[in-house]
Amino acid sequence: MVKLGVNIDHIASIRNLRLGKLPSPVQAAEIVESAGAAGITVHLREDRRHINDGDVITLRKSVKTKLNLEMSVAPDIVQFALNILPDDVCFVPEKRRELTTEGGLDLRSDMSRMRKIIGKLKSKNVRVSVFIDPVADQIRAAKDIDADFVELHTGKYAESFTAGSYKRELKRLTDAAGLALSLGLGLNAGHGLDYNNVCPIAAINGMNELNIGYSIICDAVFAGLFESVVKMKKLIENPGKY
Ligand code: PXP
Repeated sequence: MVKLGVNIDHIASIRNLRLGKLPSPVQAAEIVESAGAAGITVHLREDRRHINDGDVITLRKSVKTKLNLEMSVAPDIVQFALNILPDDVCFVPEKRRELTTEGGLDLRSDMSRMRKIIGKLKSKNVRVSVFIDPVADQIRAAKDIDADFVELHTGKYAESFTAGSYKRELKRLTDAAGLALSLGLGLNAGHGLDYNNVCPIAAINGMNELNIGYSIICDAVFAGLFESVVKMKKLIENPGKY
């Protein structure tokens, strides 16, 4: 069965609007786990715009399923990962001004450094994944640098799904998935997946895990909004009673 990893970055995005403690990523992780997710994913960005170091340290202790840390290869972040030892690390490219991760890594650009970093993490039993576009040469490079998994970038697929013609992007992902599996790499995918577009991706042969964040957090807001308004209305209409 395909596993669900839930990215809870945007719980921290909301918390940071008021620089306070709520909503708590730790509480979010508990709910996500109790709902049956296989793991918690967080992206420690270089500018710490949502999840921060303290969150990751606390989650490392509280998460009972597994903690997947998405990160760049910036030396201080690599050192942080070597200190806290998440269960999984997923390397992603990072540009300061992007709203979210825009494309996959170019693994060919820095093979020896990547191989060295991956070796260090794997020697401490951290599983390593690399976030790449569904391109054959990148998948072969992932094998060359000894990654355990590829996480295929589904962003273009998600955009094409919205535009109404996703068959070509789905084929690229399916072909890339087949190549990854034939090379002995584990197969994950994510980015832009939502309740409408997820099924064709979940049905790809050999898919291990999907990492999904934004659409779940957006859905959760509306799933809970009705009850939250009723709860507040009850209090202010009968203040003496509570
Ligand atoms: N996987 C990776 C590597 C990501 O960078 C992200 C976004 O942080 C996701 C999955 C989740 O994407 P989304 O929030 O669009 O579901």
